[in-house]
Amino acid sequence: MKTLIQFINETQADFQYATGEFTRLLNDIGIAAKLVNREINKAGLADINGYFGSTNIQGEEQKKLDVFANDCFLSAMRYGGMVCAVASEENDELYTYENAFSQKGKYVVAMDPLDGSSNIEVNVPIGTIFSIYRRKGVSGPGTVEDLLQPGNQQVASGYVIYGSSTMLVYSTGNGVNGFTLDPSVGLFLLSHPDMRIPEGGNIYSINEANYIYFQQGVKNYLKYCQQDDKSTNRPYTTRYIGSLVADFHRNLIRGGIYIYPGTVKNPNGKLRLLYECNPIAFLAEQAGGKASNGYERILDIQPTELHQRVPFFVGTSHMVEMAEKFMREYAE
Ligand code: AHG
Ligand code: MN
Ligand code: MN
Repeated sequence: MKTLIQFINETQADFQYATGEFTRLLNDIGIAAKLVNREINKAGLADINGYFGSTNIQGEEQKKLDVFANDCFLSAMRYGGMVCAVASEENDELYTYENAFSQKGKYVVAMDPLDGSSNIEVNVPIGTIFSIYRRKGVSGPGTVEDLLQPGNQQVASGYVIYGSSTMLVYSTGNGVNGFTLDPSVGLFLLSHPDMRIPEGGNIYSINEANYIYFQQGVKNYLKYCQQDDKSTNRPYTTRYIGSLVADFHRNLIRGGIYIYPGTVKNPNGKLRLLYECNPIAFLAEQAGGKASNGYERILDIQPTELHQRVPFFVGTSHMVEMAEKFMREYAE
């Protein structure tokens, strides 16, 4: 079995930013993931469930595990010295490393340290999402401008899913590979080489309780998903966990579309461009799928704010294209 580190070392030779530094950064992320995994596995036993007693910039209450995961990833990257700044869901402002060693780091990272954290207490899969860019400035602390790059500039992205097994799935722009944690030896082992999103899937994933707030294009696409037509495998089937990582991971393996659209109340939807949509969109495209805001490619959107939100349609190409067709018909 090939380990994550063996795989990274072998494949970095083909990678345009082939430096040992990048390998170390992915390794640091893997180490933090193992620490977070260990804590998550104790949920229900140790006093780590529940709220931390604070809210983040989006006004969401932080759970203890949100804060723990954030600290874990921030410190793993601090001591590696590859990263000069991190945009995190759990930090209002850009997090910059104060030590001179880190300020020489060539990379900046955007991350959702714990995705789906409302699902912690109910034993449903949760995740970590990360997105890596080369910094734009050459020295000193990283800046917000270093992070405000369109997703097509990502050098790598990935997620960790803490599920029935724990997996790390990532891409450096040359396909998508998945590694499963063998807890007995503490190693991520290559279990899902060259992941491709199936064209023949029939899953649609959306929080349909918001139906009355959806735009007409989304409503009509949902009706399309529910119509009977054997030649196109309809009606599709609904699966919705409420953890983006878990919903996307399932659709990546089975084929399907995940939608978090804009609503009347929140025209930009809920999900954040930098650390939820861009990294997942990069993986989707690398696996042969698509990601859109309903009208344009997610990866081409020029971000203007660290915590900006965007409507999200991601998954099997023809399903995303069909959803876009319905959106365009009713574009206001
Ligand atoms: P987070 O836990 O990082 O705040 O993200 C939760 C997100 C995402 O994981 C999920 O797909 C979505 O919220 C679910 O939202 P709804 O409960 O509105 O469906
Ligand atoms: Mn999230
Ligand atoms: Mn989160």
